[in-house]
Amino acid sequence: MQENQEKFIDLINKKISGKNLKYSILTMGCQLNENDSEKIAGMLEKMGYSEISDYKNADLVIFNTCCVRENAEERLFGKIGEIKKLKESRDTILAIGGCMMQEKGMLQKIKKSYSFVDVIFGTHTMQNLPEDIYKSLINKEKVKDVIDIDGEIYEGLPIKRNDKFKASVTIMYGCNNFCTYCIVPYVRGRERSRKPEKILEEVKQLAEEGYKEITLLGQNVNSYVGNGEIKNFADLLNEVCRIDGIERIRFISPHPKDFTDDVIDAIANNEKICKIIHLPLQSGNSKVLKSMNRKYTKEQYLNLVNKMQEKIPGVVLSTDIIVGFPEETDEEFEDTLDVVRKVNFEQIFMFIYSIREGTVASEMEQIPEDKKHERFEKLKKLYESRVDENNEKYLNTVQKLLIEGTSKNNHEMFEGRTDTNKVVIFKPNEENQIGDIVSVKITEAHKWYLKGEIVK
Ligand code: 5AD
Ligand code: SF4
Repeated sequence: MQENQEKFIDLINKKISGKNLKYSILTMGCQLNENDSEKIAGMLEKMGYSEISDYKNADLVIFNTCCVRENAEERLFGKIGEIKKLKESRDTILAIGGCMMQEKGMLQKIKKSYSFVDVIFGTHTMQNLPEDIYKSLINKEKVKDVIDIDGEIYEGLPIKRNDKFKASVTIMYGCNNFCTYCIVPYVRGRERSRKPEKILEEVKQLAEEGYKEITLLGQNVNSYVGNGEIKNFADLLNEVCRIDGIERIRFISPHPKDFTDDVIDAIANNEKICKIIHLPLQSGNSKVLKSMNRKYTKEQYLNLVNKMQEKIPGVVLSTDIIVGFPEETDEEFEDTLDVVRKVNFEQIFMFIYSIREGTVASEMEQIPEDKKHERFEKLKKLYESRVDENNEKYLNTVQKLLIEGTSKNNHEMFEGRTDTNKVVIFKPNEENQIGDIVSVKITEAHKWYLKGEIVK
């Protein structure tokens, strides 16, 4: 933490101590945002605020926004409206940060229509939050802290993690790829990798605290650039695997174009790396992929999958798919379905293309909404028709689970995840505790979960 930050944390702490003030954070979007929110929470706790889940009873409300898809905006503006009412009855401070605040025109929009917002902060200035809140709390200033240059990487922020056994570690920020549909490179800036020693330090610390599973995060993890012995993502993976106590390692998201053999080898050679790979497809048609600027073809994607399946026994894949990209024809969409049939993804995150102003695709000829929805339903149907078959392959196998808690629907049962991310519920024995890794034999396959019996 830097001096300035500590100074403002202390100043606020003195000011609010004994007042029992509460904060609430609403996080929208991806795991990178979740990880940022954990750091925001870390700073707020140091200031002396304590967490409350219902933001209607909070003294400080933070919205950490996302702008990857269009509908997020309506949702945010609805929420801001709710806070306006709250501000009339109590002195709630409203701070809004994250990707949407970096969007062109957003500051003006909020200033014009929601002038009661107290603090606006961007993705490059999150670490200034103590100072921003101080100005709002003490000086009653309206604060706008958004810059348009790539922020430097800020190490050592306090952090309050959401889970006790699973943790996310951001390894790089930003993206250089400019996929033509995507706004991320505009709001998160160019790629910046954290120093390997800082990442390893964080993971070692997590291991000491009892964490078992970590997820390495970045917009494009396999273009990670290190230094010294740890030059690239494969080196980083191998090194993280050497840390005692960490038993499971995941990473999201890699880009197929950067998925080098050494990363495949690292996965194959390290038992700790989960054998599910999230490999965003986006489209299965080479022409569409070209106009998305994805830099791989249908064949190259399928070859990569084949190579993974050959080299990594038992590997499964998950993916992201966008339907209704501008100019996509019915025939081209068939290629997406074809890849889905061939790869048999364990999980598919499906998105209807959403226009993002300022991106190349927003200038292209759009296809009608009903067409997009029709394709979405088609893809969903295909995926769901495969779920049963996919789940049945687990029957009678023994799976290692990280126990995450009691089952929401049946408190006598525990719930955990396989390394391929399947939810399994089972009846625990006396020794089993949350956070343990146990072996469970799968006895029943249901659509959205599996059921098992403890083996040891
Ligand atoms: N419209 C729809 N989906 C999008 N994604 C990114 N940008 C858009 C957009 N404009 C999806 C991609 C990406 C995931 C995080 O969000 O599939 O992998
Ligand atoms: Fe967006 Fe493409 Fe970068 Fe992913 S790789 S963040 S989809 S531009």
